[in-house]
Amino acid sequence: MSDEGERLQKVLARLGFGSRRICEELIADGRVTVDGVVAELGRRVDVDADVVVAVDGAPVGIKPDLVYYLLNKPAGVITTANDPQKRSTVVEIVPREPRVFSVGRLDGDTEGLLLMTNDGQLAHRLTHPSFGVEKEYLAEVAGQPSRGAIRQLRDGIELEDGPTARARVSAVQPSMLRITIHEGRNRQVRRMCEAVGHPVKRLVRTRIGSLVDPKLKPGEWRDLSREEVRALEVVVGDEKSDRPK
Ligand code: URA
Repeated sequence: MSDEGERLQKVLARLGFGSRRICEELIADGRVTVDGVVAELGRRVDVDADVVVAVDGAPVGIKPDLVYYLLNKPAGVITTANDPQKRSTVVEIVPREPRVFSVGRLDGDTEGLLLMTNDGQLAHRLTHPSFGVEKEYLAEVAGQPSRGAIRQLRDGIELEDGPTARARVSAVQPSMLRITIHEGRNRQVRRMCEAVGHPVKRLVRTRIGSLVDPKLKPGEWRDLSREEVRALEVVVGDEKSDRPK
């Protein structure tokens, strides 16, 4: 057994799984794996190496310098890191170090929740279509969509890059739709609404998987809690857990 690296119970305790003693029990109970192999008590891991530690089957980020921010993106700020037109970008809102990137994108005009991190593994899984992480939007639209239009949005719309998957759609006000999708196609919500004759006037993302924060104001950001990071890891640890029902 390697005697290099940090003791696994210490790593887990730092991540918020409980005291070292409780983390030792997690290991002793066989609930912790390293690279898919059940870890034994006394196991050490190099937190800077590419090992995957999982608790109850859900991978946990063990690198100490990983950061996760939830940003409420204001309209007019763009999601790319560098804009040749010199418009403001989301990376200018959050701390510069360590360098982070956004998980997926929001259009310049779209407001709302955006996850930013330097955890490439989690970001990759969160954006991968096979995990189908839910994204919920509030869309203020032109006109008042009929029940038929809402049904069309739910059942799928034929767009130029193919049909959209089933979505959850409800009218929270006559001109305000709550739309939940699990794809991430370019300008998808805007194109869907446009296709049924109700162009979007304002679009706000209100949820990403389990992440919500009605108190976070446009332009504000905060760190995710350990529980929120863990919940995201659980979501992408199970491909079917997050699909619209
Ligand atoms: N759908 C859109 O149309 N725009 C976004 O920014 C996100 C989803």
